[in-house]
Amino acid sequence: MAIKTSLFGGGDQHLIGMDISSSSVKLLELTRKGERYHVETYAVEPLPPNAVSDKQIAEPKLVAEAIGRAVNRAGTRTRQVAVAVSGAAVISKIIEMPASLSDDEMEEQIRAEADQYIPYPIDEVNIDFEIVGKNGKNSEMVDVLLAACRKEQVDQRGAALELAGLKPKIVDIETYALENASLFLEHQMPDGGKGRTVAIVDIGANTTSVLILHDRHTIYTRDQAFGGRQLTEEIMRHYGMSFDEAMRAKHDGSLPEDYASDVLPNFVADVAMQIDRSLQFFFSAVTQYTHIDQLILAGGCARIAGIDTEIQERLRIPTVIARPFAQMSVGARARPANLAKDEASLLIACGLAFRAFDEPKK
Ligand SMILES: Nc1ncnc2c1ncn2[C@@H]1O[C@H](COP(=O)(O)OP(=O)(O)OP(=O)(O)O)[C@@H](O)[C@H]1O
Ligand SMILES: [Mg+2]
Repeated sequence: MAIKTSLFGGGDQHLIGMDISSSSVKLLELTRKGERYHVETYAVEPLPPNAVSDKQIAEPKLVAEAIGRAVNRAGTRTRQVAVAVSGAAVISKIIEMPASLSDDEMEEQIRAEADQYIPYPIDEVNIDFEIVGKNGKNSEMVDVLLAACRKEQVDQRGAALELAGLKPKIVDIETYALENASLFLEHQMPDGGKGRTVAIVDIGANTTSVLILHDRHTIYTRDQAFGGRQLTEEIMRHYGMSFDEAMRAKHDGSLPEDYASDVLPNFVADVAMQIDRSLQFFFSAVTQYTHIDQLILAGGCARIAGIDTEIQERLRIPTVIARPFAQMSVGARARPANLAKDEASLLIACGLAFRAFDEPKK
């Protein structure tokens, strides 16, 4: 699959956003009427442990089966999909190119100079680029966003989707998907995010992604290898449970009483410490910023009761749980009661589903 045209492609079309993450496959389909968004269908299907490991699809068949179940459960007939790649296999950076070049010439030059930008052999990567604006220093140059991903990662996702009877249409980068999803969180930002510094923290099973926006534009991103898996492992150790037992008990709240006093608080304290660490990295990397106006928690771990209050108290930053669907209408097919429970985990899926509407940029 060529990443060019697909990475930045889009337009009004029927499209499923599919977040293939480490603990589950999350499907979301949005439609738009005027300015209003509507949730058509959604589904979350758990994945067996290690089917997706370290951002790689280790078990394509198991992943394809989970995708197939998600499609059935959602009841969608749409077959075109937007997926995301992430992690060490993805490189995105702004480079400078002469403004006079045509698209084809630019591609030729980027390929010729690729070893300056990309630490992998050129025939092992898919490349895409987009002119983002004039270069501030030299009027004869333009700033170009270069995105590259190891073919392996793109192909793995494509293969799992095709095995499930779907068509990979757009390959996005997770950070961009999170950035696009932040549009649906503006109602939770002071002044709708205008002039404000807002941190979105997605705490998944294995990865915590921090995205910091100023005036609604991304100014910093960071991924940490930390997530709900640490809590699952602590439950397994503390109560002598298997992974499956620990997951079940963790989700249905059936753990012994000392869980709330002896196990959970340590994890929440770790979450606060990890977020604080990322923010400190941000403040030292981008020194004109010294505070965060709003923290928005997302990912499955945001479902832990009271985690927002606890983080707010520890970090002294106003904190809320992400509610991307608060201003959308929800169709009956999307099972509104279930959707409400999964809401905070669906940010990446939201950003991917949103690709159905963006204007082709070239
Ligand atoms: N009600 C809940 N209480 C506590 N933890 C929960 C709850 N629901 C989900 N989780 C945890 O959230 C994590 C899954 O979150 P999410 O679906 O965002 O992860 P993911 O996207 O698959 O992971 P990653 O992005 O790291 O690949 C798991 O560790 C799960 O146990
Ligand atoms: Mg995730």
